[in-house]
Amino acid sequence: MKPYFRPRRLRENPILRRMVQETRLSVDQLIYPVFVREGKGIREEIPSMPGQYRFSPDTLVEELQSVRELSIPAVILFGIPAQEKKDPVGSAGYARDGVVCQALETARKKVPDLLLIADVCLCEYTDHGHCGIVKEGPVEGQGIVHNDETLEILARAALAYAQAGAHVVAPSDMMDGRVGAIREALDEEQLEHVPILSYAAKYASAFYGPFREAAESVPRFGDRKSYQMDPANSREALKEVELDLEEGADIVMVKPALPYLDVIFQVRQMTTVPLAAYQVSGEYSSLCAAFSQNWLQREATLMETLLAIRRAGADLILTYFAKEAAQILKKG
Ligand code: PBG
Repeated sequence: MKPYFRPRRLRENPILRRMVQETRLSVDQLIYPVFVREGKGIREEIPSMPGQYRFSPDTLVEELQSVRELSIPAVILFGIPAQEKKDPVGSAGYARDGVVCQALETARKKVPDLLLIADVCLCEYTDHGHCGIVKEGPVEGQGIVHNDETLEILARAALAYAQAGAHVVAPSDMMDGRVGAIREALDEEQLEHVPILSYAAKYASAFYGPFREAAESVPRFGDRKSYQMDPANSREALKEVELDLEEGADIVMVKPALPYLDVIFQVRQMTTVPLAAYQVSGEYSSLCAAFSQNWLQREATLMETLLAIRRAGADLILTYFAKEAAQILKKG
């Protein structure tokens, strides 16, 4: 029996194959994460993230210009304060002369057509490395992260970033009610036009390892499981998204990306707002390790991961491959 329907007919011709592609990746959908550290003249490679660097606010400008030249529309900034500025409440995070505010002010002036997103969290700024305020817990030496006291600090930080020039603020802490608290703080200061990109479904993932080294934000005790989501859960992700939307999130995010494509897909089905996905440090570093061994082909593999994240339903992708992907897309 000869096959009656032949799907291969649409795959044979490369022009036709291109025409019937269901999912596309465009440079407009990419957001590049960058680390900015206090100091001057710094451009240091992150050992666990080959090809990624920590910049000081001055050297960052050149980097942002090269990002812009590749037509990447946006970056998300992560701050690394001087070690001695870390304290129990993460005050270096909301300080108006802090490293992120400095970077935002400079970038706003020197690279005016780049969209600046500021990550809002405490873990890079607290001496204990947790994403919130730590209180005495029932177990000696094992504090608990206090939700509502943290909200106030997060709102202060978001406000400082928006005032320093962030176009968008992105809370990544996973405290309950933080989107509402940030929205209120921004609105009170006539910053109602500043959107909130919330890390709505952020999992307690082992894939954040290289980032914590990069941002020097490894928790000093315990883990982040009391605030980040259990990798076993997906219905809970929908609840988190629902809450963030009620509180005023403009864009919601799922994180990590590739191990959580089912979550991206489900969130896409339940909401109409733009959806972002974060291809995190561990996803990047593990692929780079395989590329360096020639076990996986670099360009084809990284583009396949980005396309898969798009196909699952993400509109926007935060990825350390953004510059490379932009170059590949440019070549066509
Ligand atoms: C801060 C934050 C983390 C990441 C983004 N924001 C680390 C964490 O939650 O431990 C991870 C990003 C990555 O791994 O690339 N809370």
